[in-house]
Amino acid sequence: MSTNEQRVAIVTGAARGIGAATAVRLAEEGRAVAVLDLDEASCADTVKKITAAGGKAIAVGCDVSDAGQVEAAVGRVAEELGAPTILVNNAGVLRDNLLFKMSESDWDTVMNVHLRGAFLMSRACQKHMVDAGFGRIVNLSSSSALGNRGQVNYSAAKAGMQGFTKTLAIELGKFGVTANAVAPGFIATDMTAATAERVGMGFDDFQKAAASQIPVQRVGQPADIANAVAFFTGDAAGFVSGQVMYVAGGPLN
Ligand SMILES: NC(=O)c1ccc[n+]([C@@H]2O[C@H](COP(=O)([O-])OP(=O)(O)OC[C@H]3O[C@@H](n4cnc5c(N)ncnc54)[C@H](O)[C@@H]3O)[C@@H](O)[C@H]2O)c1
Repeated sequence: MSTNEQRVAIVTGAARGIGAATAVRLAEEGRAVAVLDLDEASCADTVKKITAAGGKAIAVGCDVSDAGQVEAAVGRVAEELGAPTILVNNAGVLRDNLLFKMSESDWDTVMNVHLRGAFLMSRACQKHMVDAGFGRIVNLSSSSALGNRGQVNYSAAKAGMQGFTKTLAIELGKFGVTANAVAPGFIATDMTAATAERVGMGFDDFQKAAASQIPVQRVGQPADIANAVAFFTGDAAGFVSGQVMYVAGGPLN
């Protein structure tokens, strides 16, 4: 590609939360952005934010766990914006429960959205990246990958995202494609608000309790994660691959 050509990014789960902040941030970096989420109409706010600031974006409705929808969505992005060479696998869901109460459907839903979704999206985008000799894949893991009570499905999926990332880095490196994972700690979004509700706490109190356990003494914001994704997707980050960056206000191990 010529140096003036705009790179195209797809951000999944970008109607709100971390994905929305990431889509906006990548547009600020000069990327044309496909704002992808389950329902195309729900992407309108994120698209408007980008275009109002002079950026380029389209809304794409797609369930990332559905192979046919993923193929169609990536094809549409390639046609309307150009070959997608930046992919952020951010779409996610929670189905928390203790093991003895967890249903098979709670297990399967979480595996399908996070792992199958990241697999299908990466497989569909990699050919564009290989053709371009350039690619950046960022997968959203989580501090829960290290284990978290009530999240046996989610922690397994998020640990799986790390192995998936490292293997993509090994397989695709020779084509100019890097793959990295960002593993957030507590980020204030609808997802953590729903958890607060589930455990019967107000969201403010829930955030205060979380912040008191975090070395920097605050919870994270979606922009904190978007900044990390912007680094990994940058043209300058071509020698950084297969890494997992915890963005959690302190060290985790
Ligand atoms: N919020 C946190 O504290 C936190 C911490 C660690 C990791 N994460 C991860 O970061 C990512 C974003 O989290 P968030 O807090 O912004 O969540 P969120 O619930 O606010 O947003 C998730 C988005 O993903 C979309 N989505 C869900 N299933 C989808 C599917 N099958 N296809 C397409 N889109 C789908 C939803 O519609 C929603 O817009 C997730 O992968 C999550 O697991 C979040």
